[in-house]
Amino acid sequence: MPKTVIASSKEAAGEYVARAIADLIDQTPDAVLGLATGSSPLPVYSALAQLTAGDDLSRVRGFALDEYVGLDPAHPQSYRSVIAREVVQPLGLDPANVHVPPGDAADIETAGERYEAMIRAAGGVDVQLLGIGSNGHIAFNEPGSPLDSRTRRETLTERTRLDNARFFDSLDDVPRYCLTQGVGTILEAKRIFLLAFGEGKADAVRAALEGPVTSDCPASALQLHPDATFVLDEAAASGLS
Ligand code: GLP
Repeated sequence: MPKTVIASSKEAAGEYVARAIADLIDQTPDAVLGLATGSSPLPVYSALAQLTAGDDLSRVRGFALDEYVGLDPAHPQSYRSVIAREVVQPLGLDPANVHVPPGDAADIETAGERYEAMIRAAGGVDVQLLGIGSNGHIAFNEPGSPLDSRTRRETLTERTRLDNARFFDSLDDVPRYCLTQGVGTILEAKRIFLLAFGEGKADAVRAALEGPVTSDCPASALQLHPDATFVLDEAAASGLS
């Protein structure tokens, strides 16, 4: 079963995970990080930037979980832009070492396979960061995603589009499709930290940790992983028995 850590604040949660990543980078300067977007991992990135200030992280490698399809990669809300702004720049990573699924690939049906080949060639992900959708999604694996799914083009649910509308001018501007690592892809990471904050995540966290392992709640697949940790605040943990 995944380990559960209840932190006193988002900042404390971010620092807990950032320490583990900083230790890894100390031992393995070319470590492979699995990068997540959304608001939940942001405290990890800021704590990591502080912990590693002055260090040379240019050998660290990174693979993002997902990307919108049908959004200009230069759009400020494309995950390519978000990863550049929130991760690559503050941490001083080499942009050439950080990859985001190519949501704009002409051959989108085979882009997932090529992305996975790059992850394998890098030796796999050492530490994967995850958030969780209010419907239990991880990356953009919506409910119903097979637990052995691989990186592929997917359709976003209305709930996810509504959740993410806050980042866009209007709901109409939220993309309808994405290119996302699969649940099976994510489970291959050596170590996983899932971050969740706030009451809005309590149901999803409970289903993930205490419900059955089912594609109805893709995050429940983490029960199958040998080294997964849920790092929560009190509110996100409030549904746990
Ligand atoms: C998006 C991302 C997920 C993320 C989720 C939750 O849908 N694709 O990777 O976990 O949002 O976002 P937040 O952490 O902002 O609640």
